[in-house]
Amino acid sequence: MMTTQQLMALALEMAELTEVPGDSAIYHPGQNIRKIMMGIDIKAAEVKLASDMGFDVAISHHPTGGQARLDFYKVLYRHLDQLTRAGVALKEVQQMIDDLADDSRITAAMSNFDHEPSVARLLDMPYMNIHTPLDEIGRRRLQMAADELSATDTVADLISHFLASFGEFRNAATEIEVRVGSAENAIGRVVMSHGAGTNGGYPVAKAYFDHGIDTVIYIHCRPADSKRLVLEYGDSKNLIVTGHIVSDSIGINPYVDRLREEGMGVTTLSGIIPA
Ligand SMILES: [Fe+2]
Ligand SMILES: [Fe+2]
Repeated sequence: MMTTQQLMALALEMAELTEVPGDSAIYHPGQNIRKIMMGIDIKAAEVKLASDMGFDVAISHHPTGGQARLDFYKVLYRHLDQLTRAGVALKEVQQMIDDLADDSRITAAMSNFDHEPSVARLLDMPYMNIHTPLDEIGRRRLQMAADELSATDTVADLISHFLASFGEFRNAATEIEVRVGSAENAIGRVVMSHGAGTNGGYPVAKAYFDHGIDTVIYIHCRPADSKRLVLEYGDSKNLIVTGHIVSDSIGINPYVDRLREEGMGVTTLSGIIPA
């Protein structure tokens, strides 16, 4: 049996994080947990369902409210860590990330952030979300797979390697897309940009492209952002988009497997694609 706090701690440990990131929270705590409902978007309706069906906790991947919405902007700074680790100078990107974070913080504060948590409290249903820790697990798995290739391998080789390495990609209803560049291009230096709240859109990909990265991998990207990158870079750089729900699943599944090893009963819904 576990508590909501132990469920969070296990995810942190697996992601090698030392504190709960801004986009993850226990909305309503619980203990003696054995039966878990877990999905990518678990909101008020699913919390009621979890309560009706006798689950001990409802876990969402995406943040749905509370501090995880209000402090979401803080995890966008993980882009800064990832960019600087890839060799981009802090001063080149600090303002850009500050702007993204500011927009995110203001928009979140405009919203009815207590809606979903209030339903869980009313039902006295344990409810939490785990976002960045699971995305960080996914980022590492995908970056490690990408690092198994050499710089002269092509974008097509990388996509084949992803398909061969992850059952989630083979089981997904979506495709891995080349949104900038081409399948025949060499991959060069590759960064898996993920686990930082949300994709960095045009400005983050541009920062990578302008500082020696040839291939950026996002799990999702708005069409307007990738079109702007095509206009600016033609096919001289590559942006691969692996697919949102399938890539979230690649980070979630190791955690679900681990919970089952710990003796928990886990029912998955809302998008999670098995390996
Ligand atoms: Fe995610
Ligand atoms: Fe997601």
